Amino acid sequence: MSVPSAVPVVAIDGPSGAGKGTISRALAGRLNWHLLDSGALYRLVAYAGHSQGLAEDDKGGHARVAQQLDSRFGASADGGELILLSGIDVTQGIRSETAGMGASRVAAWPEVRAALLARQRGFARPPGLVADGRDMGTIVFPAAPLKIFLVATPEERALRRYNQLKGKDSAVTLAALSREIAARDRQDATRPVAPLVAAADAVVVDSTGLSVADVVGRVWRAGSERGLWREE
Ligand code: C5P
Repeated sequence: MSVPSAVPVVAIDGPSGAGKGTISRALAGRLNWHLLDSGALYRLVAYAGHSQGLAEDDKGGHARVAQQLDSRFGASADGGELILLSGIDVTQGIRSETAGMGASRVAAWPEVRAALLARQRGFARPPGLVADGRDMGTIVFPAAPLKIFLVATPEERALRRYNQLKGKDSAVTLAALSREIAARDRQDATRPVAPLVAAADAVVVDSTGLSVADVVGRVWRAGSERGLWREE
């Protein structure tokens, strides 16, 4: 399959809670580029499979769900994210750590990954794309002119996720979240297909202790050094 190269892509990969979503959204907003939240697609597959009553280990069934996924990404009235699955608002529903574990389970299956590949590449439209995930720089957009691998200490990642989720998921505790994130990262990093790994040509950015503006600044400099945009 050909990989689109005419449209510039910034690939932002890394483990859970490293800040990929926040940084990707900020960068896409600053550039006025499109945004791909690839993790949301895996979350939607697991969520839709569960809603349809599929067995947790039904790879073929989940691959069919991935192929036929009716997903829409937009903005809510207050400018926040809005994710629709077959026309139904699932923005909050897919964000729980349980949904994250479900996503990690289905994401380990090559059938599901293959079913989502063309859909993900379809997000690369002019003027450019910021793509957030685990394999954006290695598999989905290997020709991306800028690849960032965003990391942070496990403690900071767990705390960020906790702060994100505590208002939405009343059952969440920091200790349980730390364990779940560690388990999910282990599962993502050790799977045989598209494991969580930095592309050889990725710039590793450690966001521990940095503000969103600091991290965006580093990504911005890396992009201007590559001639993707001008330093401001
Ligand atoms: O980024 P997010 O936490 O929403 O991702 C949920 C899960 O989806 C990850 O733990 C990972 O297993 C899977 N994923 C993936 N490849 C991507 C994005 C997410 O395998 N490109």
